[in-house]
Amino acid sequence: MSAFHVTRTLPEDAMAAALRADVQQGLTSTPKTLPPKWFYDARGSDLFERITELPEYYPFRAEREILARRAEEIAAALPARTLVELGSGSSQKTRHLLDALIGLHTYVPVDVSESALEQAGQALAAERPELNVHGLIADFTAPLTLPDTPGPRLLVFLGGTIGNLLPEERARFLAGARALLSPGDGLLLGTDLVKDEAVLVRAYDDAAGVTAAFDKNVLSVVNRELEADFDLDAFDHVAVWDPEHEWIEMRLRSRTAQTVKVPALGLAVDFAAGEELRTEVSSKFRKEKVAAELDSVGLELTDWWTDGESRFALSLSRVR
Ligand code: SAH
Ligand code: TRP
Repeated sequence: MSAFHVTRTLPEDAMAAALRADVQQGLTSTPKTLPPKWFYDARGSDLFERITELPEYYPFRAEREILARRAEEIAAALPARTLVELGSGSSQKTRHLLDALIGLHTYVPVDVSESALEQAGQALAAERPELNVHGLIADFTAPLTLPDTPGPRLLVFLGGTIGNLLPEERARFLAGARALLSPGDGLLLGTDLVKDEAVLVRAYDDAAGVTAAFDKNVLSVVNRELEADFDLDAFDHVAVWDPEHEWIEMRLRSRTAQTVKVPALGLAVDFAAGEELRTEVSSKFRKEKVAAELDSVGLELTDWWTDGESRFALSLSRVR
């Protein structure tokens, strides 16, 4: 029997329907938007892995530093038997926690990217034959049913991915996360912190253009899945700091006036020269805000760890 299996809680036709609805809505809104979960097909997941290796993209290394240094402390504070990770991707940094959680029974990686989940799960099962790995192909913005495994449960959400949710989505997400936890369980949350604008902008607009390719990949997904004819070379990647919302906004700016056809939706979408399509926000946080948002869903922030340069934070919170 394999110690690794994957459950698809998102049937492929439901995913296709969700993509159609999101694209229909996003491309007919003003300003135009596309939601970030569609970045991550197999190519998008590979491009994200390359982002984590860029010199400009400090969040990955800062969070890995915290995990490497604090994993034992985290495990002592919350000796989880089930580790559930949302948006697990390659599960690379999570290995520090898997090593430190001595009594761990099951690891549940949850991701919309089937390719990332398969690769990470196969590798982990080979490295750690004693560990049960139960992958879930699921959308973490929708209600989630977890496998029936022993507690305590530690829910982890790394990479600053919570910052990719808009404020209302984030509030809904946190309430849903809280609903998955019982007394004795915990939430380990990775949040990137507010810092110098130039450092932030560089992290989302690197010199080698990997982030630009990642951003444009969402157009390739729409081309492939909905037979659209986006010309990727007719758009520029833009990353701007919004000081009011304290988030980086990623946009694709149309180089010229053009019309993009999306035959699967019967849409013809006009772009003016210079018009921008918003693809993603990446919110940056302060400790008081994280504590307040956790508090508002009934979670109490009990630990706050940062890297040596205070660029990124991991917080542990528990059911109040
Ligand atoms: N945790 C990893 C990966 C972060 S990238 C790290 O810290 O390096 C964000 C991950 O979340 C990707 O693997 C992507 O496929 C996944 N993801 C994005 N939106 C999602 C959604 N709505 N539901 C489930 N997974 C999602
Ligand atoms: N969660 C990552 C972040 O906000 C995702 C990300 C990194 C990203 N680089 C990106 C999303 C570029 C879109 C474009 O840091």
